[in-house]
Amino acid sequence: MVNELIKRNIPDFFVNNGKKIETKQEWEDYRPYLKELLLKEEYGFLPPKIIPTVRVEKEGVDFAGKAEWESVYFTFENNGKSHTVKTGLILPKGKEKCPVFLSLNFQKEIPNKYLPVEEIIDTGFGIFAFCYEEVTADNNDFTNGLCGLFEENGKCPFGKISLWAYFASICMDYLEKRQEVDKNSVAIIGHSRLGKTALLTSALDERFKLTCVNDSGCCGAAVSRGKSKENETIEKITETFPFWFTDGFKQYVNNESSLPFDQHMLLALVAPRCLIVGGAEEDAWADNKGQHLSCALAAKAWELYDKGLADKRLNYYERRGTHFLSRTDWIVYMEGFKEILKNEI
Ligand code: GCU
Repeated sequence: MVNELIKRNIPDFFVNNGKKIETKQEWEDYRPYLKELLLKEEYGFLPPKIIPTVRVEKEGVDFAGKAEWESVYFTFENNGKSHTVKTGLILPKGKEKCPVFLSLNFQKEIPNKYLPVEEIIDTGFGIFAFCYEEVTADNNDFTNGLCGLFEENGKCPFGKISLWAYFASICMDYLEKRQEVDKNSVAIIGHSRLGKTALLTSALDERFKLTCVNDSGCCGAAVSRGKSKENETIEKITETFPFWFTDGFKQYVNNESSLPFDQHMLLALVAPRCLIVGGAEEDAWADNKGQHLSCALAAKAWELYDKGLADKRLNYYERRGTHFLSRTDWIVYMEGFKEILKNEI
């Protein structure tokens, strides 16, 4: 870890106006500026909040009779256009004030290979899930879906990750209104590009109790500086997925040393809440060393709240295998969440 730190040459970013941040108050004073900086330079500013109309359709009891399933439709209107996003809310039957996982999904189907619904229900959690491409397509078409409500001449000032995060926050607004949901016990979970999204959502929106960031890699949990040749870099990610970011982010291609932050500062914004960063041993692209180092550097934010807090609330783990949101990962996240709730961590 020490070698890694030296090799990567990451400056101390816990600095505000040239002054080292040493107290919780100094950190809290710096947070709004840091949020702005990350959006301005990397992800692009989120659009203004539109309050959607919500329609609920009961799908009935399912999952061996153990859960109530509803489809919840969010309709947004702006600039004379409208877009509806379908989501799924699945709550264990007969459980009052249920803790819930807000799950950012690749697939529309529920359950799917990344979302073992019955196991999650059996562990005592509810699930609120949406498929990210229902919000806006994962491509450079900014007229599509919810983006279409904000575009001007086919362009938006934000990247798609920001818009997916925008919708995840709207899901949280909705969960807060549901009687059956314990609004103080909502975890957000995402894998890979949706891990990046979950992390950004929680960095900006402090209502999530736990943030589970799986194999998120470049522009997610991994630091951007000092990559090895098998790791994804800003150059590679902005070549294939330029539409995930604000246009100006390209200035940091092969120029990471001029970034006014590194990704650990995004993790730091989750403090003092709970965060689990997951990696997979064979996922070299995501840069596990960079994710691990990022957690170590971000720990300072938790420590500013309380000595020893990072140990309790910031967790990094790596499992065997490849890039995937696996059953093992879910078990780690669910067990972690159970511990947090049981011991009031
Ligand atoms: C690509 C991309 C990664 C991303 C991943 C995914 O590999 O380069 O940055 O995390 O897709 O979302 O599965």
